[in-house]
Amino acid sequence: MKLPEILQAKGNKKITMVTCYDHWSARLLSETDVDLMLVGDSLAMVIYGFNDTTPATMEMMIRHTEAVRRGAPEKFIVSDLPFLSFRKSLDTSLENAGALIQAGANAVKLEGAAGNLEMIERFVGSGIPVMGHLGLTPQFVNALGGFKVQGRTEKAQDQILKDALALEKAGAFAVVLECIPSGLARQVTEALRIPVIGIGAGPDTDGQVLVLQDLLGLTSGRIPKFVRPFADGRLTVKEGIQSYCEKVQSLEFPTVKESYE
Ligand code: KIV
Repeated sequence: MKLPEILQAKGNKKITMVTCYDHWSARLLSETDVDLMLVGDSLAMVIYGFNDTTPATMEMMIRHTEAVRRGAPEKFIVSDLPFLSFRKSLDTSLENAGALIQAGANAVKLEGAAGNLEMIERFVGSGIPVMGHLGLTPQFVNALGGFKVQGRTEKAQDQILKDALALEKAGAFAVVLECIPSGLARQVTEALRIPVIGIGAGPDTDGQVLVLQDLLGLTSGRIPKFVRPFADGRLTVKEGIQSYCEKVQSLEFPTVKESYE
């Protein structure tokens, strides 16, 4: 999908987005119908084992974006601007967004609206498409007091709607809504001309995004209520590794066919 098709999808086709952090999974995803790949700053948690996304750095995002692009030359790739990388000055923010594009991203995603609107206009005016992210914005985990559903009060709902409209006005081509009540997500989706992609935001957004490891059933421990594992990845992977160990021990691997004369 290219940017014009993403915009045209609104009201016509549900958009699918999946996170992707490395080359081998990028190659797999490039063979599927998934529309957008997100090099999310959630890699800080999923790949590096941190408790939240704030330790993600520009260096990490650049390296992982490059790897994903090499694995999926044709896909539309969105890369997250990590914590504080777009809050210091307009010039530094533009440099960081540009670095992600030069690493292979087609667009950048950033969290929040307040304080970001002028910058978004500058990015868009410089040829850098921007995806917004509202609701549960994980880079604000310390301010929010944890990973919690947002938009529960009327005031918070008004703010999310206002922020979404402001992001659209500033030139964002799409907005992610994370962990908000379905009714609010529907209201925002109806109010915006640009696509709204939900995660934990119910069925009425223009598309859905999930973390790849969550949707494959590869995540251990507690998973959020909004996640549906579409495969039993942990079992499949463990069975494969277990079988390899057993066949090595029983001298059934490698065979003559798997050896050089
Ligand atoms: O980093 C990420 O994985 C995200 C998704 C939750 C949308 O931003």
